Amino acid sequence: MPGLIPQSALDEILGRVDIVELISGYIPLKKSGRNFKAPCPFHNEKTPSFMVSPERQIYHCFGCGESGNAFKFLMKYERLEFPEAVEHLAKKAGVVLPETRPQDSTVTNLLTQLYTVNDLAVQYYASNLISSAGVGARAYLSKRGITDDSIAHCKLGLALDKWDGLITYMRQKGVTLGVLEKAGLILAKDSGGGYYDRFRGRLIFPIFDIKGRPIAFGARVLDDSLPKYINSCETPVYVKGKNLYGFHLAKDFVRDLDHVLVVEGYLDFLVPFQQGIGNIVASLGTALTSDQVRMVKRYTHNAVMIYDADQAGQMAALRSLDIFIEEEMQVRVASLPAGFDPDLFVRKYGAEGFRLLVEKAENLFDFKLRLLKGKYNADSIEGKARIASEMLSTIAKFKHAVMQSEYVKKLADVLSVNEEALWSEIKKEKKRPDSSAQSGNTAVSAGFQDNPTEKLLFKLMLEETHLIDRIRRQLDPEEFQDERISQIVSKLFDFVEQGKLIEPSSLIHYFDDECTMKFICESAIPSDVAMLDKEKVVDDCIRRLKTKNRQKRKISLQEKIKSAQDEGKDDELSRLMQEFDELLKSQN
Ligand code: CTP
Ligand code: MN
Repeated sequence: MPGLIPQSALDEILGRVDIVELISGYIPLKKSGRNFKAPCPFHNEKTPSFMVSPERQIYHCFGCGESGNAFKFLMKYERLEFPEAVEHLAKKAGVVLPETRPQDSTVTNLLTQLYTVNDLAVQYYASNLISSAGVGARAYLSKRGITDDSIAHCKLGLALDKWDGLITYMRQKGVTLGVLEKAGLILAKDSGGGYYDRFRGRLIFPIFDIKGRPIAFGARVLDDSLPKYINSCETPVYVKGKNLYGFHLAKDFVRDLDHVLVVEGYLDFLVPFQQGIGNIVASLGTALTSDQVRMVKRYTHNAVMIYDADQAGQMAALRSLDIFIEEEMQVRVASLPAGFDPDLFVRKYGAEGFRLLVEKAENLFDFKLRLLKGKYNADSIEGKARIASEMLSTIAKFKHAVMQSEYVKKLADVLSVNEEALWSEIKKEKKRPDSSAQSGNTAVSAGFQDNPTEKLLFKLMLEETHLIDRIRRQLDPEEFQDERISQIVSKLFDFVEQGKLIEPSSLIHYFDDECTMKFICESAIPSDVAMLDKEKVVDDCIRRLKTKNRQKRKISLQEKIKSAQDEGKDDELSRLMQEFDELLKSQN
């Protein structure tokens, strides 16, 4: 469905048109609880199963499955094409659609405009922080050990807890709302027209490109509320994964010291940096991309990744390792003690402690092997095979034949397997198009499974959008076994991260298959059953979902135990039993 008409215009129309009013112009609707009901206009039926939700601004027929928003109803009922339906409703709503022909201003003109408004925004946020309204935020920063020098150096700021703080400031400066929207600093309201500030009541971390031009912003809450961070959306000057936080400040240190330290978060950059660790950059919570690595490579060929000891941190480190190798860089991994991130570590052990930790960083071979040995049983044949193939997927990425052959030799040695066998595996590995993306993630569940827990969770997310972040903190989209839900949830998480408001009637435009769209509408129709403690229901669902996934692991372990028993492999058996025990324990 998405076409040339910008989503913001569609949203504005959807916000102004009432779907109940629209549909009652065609068929009589009857109030029924929170929804309206009618015999379905799209199939023959006696008892009405066509529901219209005024809250969600969508319709869904529980008989034939037809569903959608106001545009879709018009398309279907009046047999219009999408642009015609949009035009029709735009007229009705009094919304002027933007011209689809490109604007007169050249591209470079737009880029300059964006840097300029971002610059103004940096100044505005910074002035808030030093104003009387910034007392609380300054206290927070000082509690976290951030000095005034660092604040000035990194141009930290504060977004006031207002809907139009930035808008008002920019108006005075003569900046048009259109440019602010393109810069991702303001968002169009879903209803009634107009805009609001994207960042409100948050600390602001401007993100600069390598030349020191402001390109985006990250914004942290001042307490424990969620989401902890929201970030700018992508704009013509900001493409995610193409920048590193702090690199404009660190690049000279990186060149002089000839190595770079890579951490994850804003504060993990700031705290070590102000303690004199200059050659540090932050990836901002995502796995590194080859663009980022190439950027660094112009300054040094040596990198040390510093990741949390938790599983998410280690997985991120693993994914990033391969990218460094593909770019022919030397990479090592420093693991923090449990419960620490670089910020905490430096505050507790100082810059010296941090340097020691970096010195002790493991090389990629040892690091990955250690992780894999924790995951598979290196004494069993099956375990050896798994470890070998995952190690080889990294080793295969070395471009230099000598490096590759040295590592194959080493791997054969530690696993006590035949080197020839490893070489024949590595040849297979190279033929696979993208082995790393697939490892350990086979799509078992083809199609749509009946999965009430996941469905309920998803329904709750649409019903109470503030719950999405609670769920995002505890689950990865991939943990949903239902692929369709997993796909939509991943989009919802993106929206929350960007601080976007979520309306089901607008959400459906992001999916172009009918099936997903219908599923969203079906789930979004509110039920009349009142649920008292939704947070608790959410937590229960998450627990159930995790239990189910764990159950799967348990069954596979049981099978391994059985075969170890049959084959009389006592060592392996006791190992497996222990793993099984741990799995049981982690359950409570
Ligand atoms: N992040 C994000 N959105 C979130 C959470 C995290 O963009 N909702 C990114 C931020 O760039 C953040 C990084 O991931 O800096 C690491 O996340 P986390 O470790 O949770 O935060 P910290 O940086 O450690 O922040 P703090 O110490 O203030 O909790
Ligand atoms: Mn932290």
